[in-house]
Amino acid sequence: MAATPPSYTKLTHCATYPAINPTQPGLSTAGKVVLITGASGGIGQATASSFAASGPRALILLGRRTDALAQVASVIRASFTNRELTVQTHEAELCDPSSVRSAMDKVAAEFGGIDILVHCAGALAPVVSLLQADPATFLDGYKTTVVGTLVAAQAVVLANKTGTASATEDKPVTFINLTTAGILFPPFPGMGAYVSSKMAAVKLLQAFAAENPQVRLHNVHPGMLETAMSAKLAETIRLPYAYDDISLPADFLVWIASPEAEFLTNKLVFSAWDVDELKGRKREIVGGPPGTGELWIGFQGFPRFMAGQPLPGTQ
Ligand SMILES: NC(=O)c1ccc[n+]([C@@H]2O[C@H](COP(=O)([O-])OP(=O)(O)OC[C@H]3O[C@@H](n4cnc5c(N)ncnc54)[C@H](OP(=O)(O)O)[C@@H]3O)[C@@H](O)[C@H]2O)c1
Repeated sequence: MAATPPSYTKLTHCATYPAINPTQPGLSTAGKVVLITGASGGIGQATASSFAASGPRALILLGRRTDALAQVASVIRASFTNRELTVQTHEAELCDPSSVRSAMDKVAAEFGGIDILVHCAGALAPVVSLLQADPATFLDGYKTTVVGTLVAAQAVVLANKTGTASATEDKPVTFINLTTAGILFPPFPGMGAYVSSKMAAVKLLQAFAAENPQVRLHNVHPGMLETAMSAKLAETIRLPYAYDDISLPADFLVWIASPEAEFLTNKLVFSAWDVDELKGRKREIVGGPPGTGELWIGFQGFPRFMAGQPLPGTQ
């Protein structure tokens, strides 16, 4: 029987629900330019449809497979004929910085910048025990996950500088990174390369956001979804969790980009967590100085003292 993943909220979800419905006025992306990497694949494709329902000014889809991107764009255009929505596709390889820069620069030049970037593109590093891992190819998965994430983050910040009237003006961008709960769980045999690369990407983005305060960063574990990536994983191992409906991460990602979820900046959350309970715990989640509060990747039991004084709740 499938296990229930540990949760931060009492109530959890495995499919979309009214509070994250992207047609709600509070989740509207009217006037915004939304860019999705990995829009040709499982979660990215579903996320594109959810953002389309939230009414953005433009929806920009990135991926390597142009035919798959064109198909996603045409389905979205056909579903939203009653409103003005620009949908563009751009071929971009994350490991080729010039293709990603060129795509985002074009978008920024046309629309004046990018407001929301959902980074769904990802690769599954070889699922083998670390004793068997081939050092010659080990970095391949890291390259897409770590270097590709750096390339996406650099490209959007640089494009937003060129897209605005002044090259010194820093247009804010909400950057949502898809990660995995595996970085928080005990090690699962075979997943060492994938999980450690995902952890590296989260730490890299935390540093990037600290250096670029115009970046509002969110890390999201999407859940367990039936996609090309999970099918590939299932060839080798079966994780003990049931699949969620893809509507869950797709709509949750619209919610996390909304003003309602701004208090979760720099935090890591799961799509399954109930958003009303998250809002109810806002004070504990935000905490005091940066790096404190809950849902922050830290070191359990640390800190206990500040300047020799015990911190509240540690004695
Ligand atoms: N599925 C799950 O259960 C699950 C669980 C936890 C986390 N995640 C994370 O969620 C994200 C999406 O996963 P998914 O299941 O939707 O995967 P997927 O179905 O395999 O789709 C991956 C997407 O990434 C794009 N991509 C891969 N390598 C790329 C590269 N080098 N340059 C540009 N685009 C590239 C692919 O586009 P092209 O094929 O067109 O290049 C595709 O659109 C990933 O970050 C994954 O790690 C997934």
